Amino acid sequence: MNAIGKVRLVNQVIAAPMAGISDRAYRILAKEAGCALVCTEMISDLALLYGNPRTLQLLDHTGEAGPLSVQIFGSSPDSMAKAAKFAENAGADLIDLNMGCPVPKVVRNGEGAALMRNPELAARIIREVVSAVNVPVTVKMRKGWDEGSVNAVEIALLAEDAGAAAVTVHGRLKSQYYAGHADWGIIKAVKEVLTIPVIGNGDIQTPADARQMLDETGCDAVMIGRAALGNPWIFSRTIHFLSSGESLPFPSIYEKLNTALRHLDLVSQGKGDKIALLEMRKHAAWYIRGLPGAALTRQKINRAESVMELAVLLAQDLVNVK
Ligand SMILES: Cc1cc2nc3c(=O)[nH]c(=O)nc-3n(C[C@H](O)[C@H](O)[C@H](O)COP(=O)(O)O)c2cc1C
Repeated sequence: MNAIGKVRLVNQVIAAPMAGISDRAYRILAKEAGCALVCTEMISDLALLYGNPRTLQLLDHTGEAGPLSVQIFGSSPDSMAKAAKFAENAGADLIDLNMGCPVPKVVRNGEGAALMRNPELAARIIREVVSAVNVPVTVKMRKGWDEGSVNAVEIALLAEDAGAAAVTVHGRLKSQYYAGHADWGIIKAVKEVLTIPVIGNGDIQTPADARQMLDETGCDAVMIGRAALGNPWIFSRTIHFLSSGESLPFPSIYEKLNTALRHLDLVSQGKGDKIALLEMRKHAAWYIRGLPGAALTRQKINRAESVMELAVLLAQDLVNVK
């Protein structure tokens, strides 16, 4: 695949939307690692239309290299269409519709994965959003709601019919949340019936997994989520492996800590030091996972009272390993 609608993709590796994670800082690092496409965190259509400041900040993409997909969630065709238009005006290159989120407070409102149980409404939402914007519209879904309703093929077909430019299939049921294994067979089943591109998602942990998903399912691109936590190198290593069959070395400790510091700086720039201190605790823990003394550093990081202190802790580790 080299495009979704009119949006050109330079390779087959896409960064997954992740609430609380895939902010501007994360996306800049993912893009630098070569990702063909990055996506915002999921954004509530209504919160966007109310102009909630914290929601508007989710659209901040200052200084980012495109293309950027903005993911919205909701259950009303009208407000989803308005929110999509708002996001397009704010610079979205694509709009992604969330039909996979399993979180109770989302599905309770008929949003996220609940839309897979309401195909007629899902189709109306897609149709209205497609007619409201000029950018390509994609749909991200799961395998189905539960074992008794595996309907990704049905939803994907109706998405294509409603004008979607691509679909992403996460091979888990809503009922599984993130447990168990992703079923790549459902990605294959969707790919077999669609003409628009299909992006496969779920449980890619290594570049070889990405190769295997592409080969086994025939999907057009892969989307990587959790394997990229504290590990943007998964993108560069996967891109390299897919194009050459060669495995690049793992990042050095120096590269890891350096990137963690850069991540901290990017979050501080975008959201201020106070929020950066809180948000970077989890990222820092992911970056240092597996390094000597990581458990102790993590404890210290969690007690850090300023971003400077956090930076010094990471830098100290850097000095210790050099
Ligand atoms: C912390 C976290 C937040 C997530 N937030 C979103 C989200 O906002 N929108 C969405 O469509 N999927 C979201 N997901 C699901 C991922 O995009 C992806 O489908 C899932 O993690 C499976 O891919 P993986 O095995 O590569 O992680 C989230 C997943 C995690 C772990």
